[in-house]
Amino acid sequence: MIETRRLLLRDVLRADAEGFHAYRRREAYWRHVPMEPPTRKQIDEFLEQCLREQEESPRSSYCLAATLKDTNEIVGEALLRIRSARHCQGEMGWAVAELHQGKGFATEIGLALLRFGFGEIGLHRIFARTRCENFASRRVMAKIGMREEGILRENVRARGEWWSSVQCSILVHEYGAASAPGGAVPADGPIS
Ligand SMILES: CC(C)(COP(=O)(O)OP(=O)(O)OC[C@H]1O[C@@H](n2cnc3c(N)ncnc32)[C@H](O)[C@@H]1OP(=O)(O)O)[C@@H](O)C(=O)NCCC(=O)NCCS
Repeated sequence: MIETRRLLLRDVLRADAEGFHAYRRREAYWRHVPMEPPTRKQIDEFLEQCLREQEESPRSSYCLAATLKDTNEIVGEALLRIRSARHCQGEMGWAVAELHQGKGFATEIGLALLRFGFGEIGLHRIFARTRCENFASRRVMAKIGMREEGILRENVRARGEWWSSVQCSILVHEYGAASAPGGAVPADGPIS
């Protein structure tokens, strides 16, 4: 469980299926994600995979539901995967339900994942990728202090097209400097 100013990031549950399907089936979710609009059955399968990953030891994947502290409503998701334990490398991602976009939730999720990945797991570098045209996600990466590493040219085949991706990353010492008081990265607010 990761707590931020407005959110709880917690392990997904089977009972979350409807909450995830409600926003994942909307174009605002899948427009820049390499998938078809998901069916409820696919959401169930996705959750089963997440539940299996929760049992792994050592654990290498954290697929978390982002819920509003006040109401428990699912407003999005957070993903952190350890890509190389030996080299302390992780990858993260996020999504926010259309109704809640533009309120800073993805930024709050991203900062919480950095705190968790560097602080609890001990990663050295965390990277994120998104479709080049996904300017909102690119902006979130910049806001949480990630730097652009480059473009992966036509590395994804989605819905009959080739997509290119941008890859950004942040190193543990950059995070430490940027998240210190007066640093470039905004605080995700006091944890009550
Ligand atoms: C990308 C996504 C997670 C952003 O979530 P969010 O909660 O709205 O993000 P935030 O509010 O924290 O920040 C969004 C930033 O992008 C900016 N933005 C939004 N749309 C933009 C656009 N088309 N062009 C440029 N900037 C844009 C916002 O203005 C904001 O920046 P600001 O704070 O400087 O004004 C959300 O749009 C989403 O879930 N999309 C669908 C799933 C997805 O694409 N996930 C990422 C896969 S890698």
